Amino acid sequence: MRITIFGTGYVGLVTGACLAEVGHHVMCMDVDQNKIDRLRQGIIPIYEPGLEPIVSHNTESGRLQFTTDVAEAVTFGDLQFIAVGTPSDEDGSADLKYVLAVAGSIGEHMDEYKVVIDKSTVPVGTADKVRNTISEKLKARGVSTEFDVVSNPEFLKEGAAVADFMKPDRIIVGTETERPRELLRELYYPFNRNHERVLFMDVRSAELTKYAANAMLATKISFMNEIANLAERLGADIENVRRGIGSDPRIGYHFIYPGCGYGGSCFPKDVKALARTAHEYDYDARLMNAVEAVNNSQKYVLFDKVSHYFKGDLNGKTVALWGLSFKPKTDDMREAPSRVLMEKLWAAGASVQAFDPEAMEETQKIYPDQPGLQLCGTKEQALKGADCLVICTEWKEFRSPDFEQIAAAIRFPVVFDGRNLYDEQMLGRYGLSYYAIGRGLNQFDRT
Ligand code: UDX
Repeated sequence: MRITIFGTGYVGLVTGACLAEVGHHVMCMDVDQNKIDRLRQGIIPIYEPGLEPIVSHNTESGRLQFTTDVAEAVTFGDLQFIAVGTPSDEDGSADLKYVLAVAGSIGEHMDEYKVVIDKSTVPVGTADKVRNTISEKLKARGVSTEFDVVSNPEFLKEGAAVADFMKPDRIIVGTETERPRELLRELYYPFNRNHERVLFMDVRSAELTKYAANAMLATKISFMNEIANLAERLGADIENVRRGIGSDPRIGYHFIYPGCGYGGSCFPKDVKALARTAHEYDYDARLMNAVEAVNNSQKYVLFDKVSHYFKGDLNGKTVALWGLSFKPKTDDMREAPSRVLMEKLWAAGASVQAFDPEAMEETQKIYPDQPGLQLCGTKEQALKGADCLVICTEWKEFRSPDFEQIAAAIRFPVVFDGRNLYDEQMLGRYGLSYYAIGRGLNQFDRT
């Protein structure tokens, strides 16, 4: 099949590369000439495991092409995927300007039947807006071609996006007509051979499914973070509680890890957008607002622990920080808890010596010439001359570090762990105090 993808971000690029991998002919379009030039040479703008080889060999085989030419892109594909960004507006609603600009371009250049597919996460009702935008453009040109607009949200996890695409839990397709249903069935056939993964439904339900999935996952995390904060105050250990509740299959072990807050491009944005949509429909989404509020305050928990340990005086202190990206296996710094921590530390007069296996370049881009930030080549270098160690991201290489070396390198023997990687007794053997999330006695009782 011939497929056009608008937008070469995470979603667009992974979708394009994976569809080419199973034999479809794909053209990816982006307005960023520099990005397209680099992609043609096989240079990937993001760190995503497994993506580079499939982009490279499908580009070489000619099944995956890149262009900045809108007319060429619209003409190419029978299926037109919209996979451009939907950033948050100031009020938290999803900004549809890029999505509708693509819809406008499709209407300006389309001359035969096409299926337009919303892949971006868009508020319920966006498919109607896309349809209207295309219709208006066609009318203005005096063209009467038929087309369908389908909702086909993505559920890719950064760091596992290629694997998620190739082996999806489910493929949601929202359409009320038969013609696009047949085409999408054919498109996804290679991913649907062993058992039925495609779920057809009406467009609005498909649009809401994406938000409901992310909102549910974000709720699980905020719930656990709230219980963790309570566990600290009660002298309970959230890790025992986590195991205890996860064993109930109705709850399950997934996504109940407490931490220093969720980040990334999806959860914060989608929870806000869902609350905003609810507000527009005169419904007060109290749970969504609470999920977001809990998460926002959770991002301050590490700073509060550090600040309390140093009795509120962080001026001149140096903090070794391990992990910057919002989660492991990505260089993505969007809404990363590390940013809130660093910004609070700088405001308090402390400096940061940071190390991350992948996100150093991104951090440099976000904080160019930032006083009080030193990016270090290794996790050991980050420790040198620091007063304490803080961990924000659970990269594998942080799981079993040389505690003796840590104890010798930092001035105050204390580790603050935003991901509950270690055991208090184990660190105690090296003379290190350990402050994690929801474990051990409340820091306020300990001092
Ligand atoms: C998420 C969804 O999982 C995916 O289906 C959707 O398409 C996009 O949003 P992603 O943002 O890539 O994917 O990351 P995910 O692995 O879901 O983690 C999100 C955040 O939650 C991270 O900051 C992570 O550290 C945090 N998290 C996750 C927890 O704090 N605890 C958990 O138990 C799980």
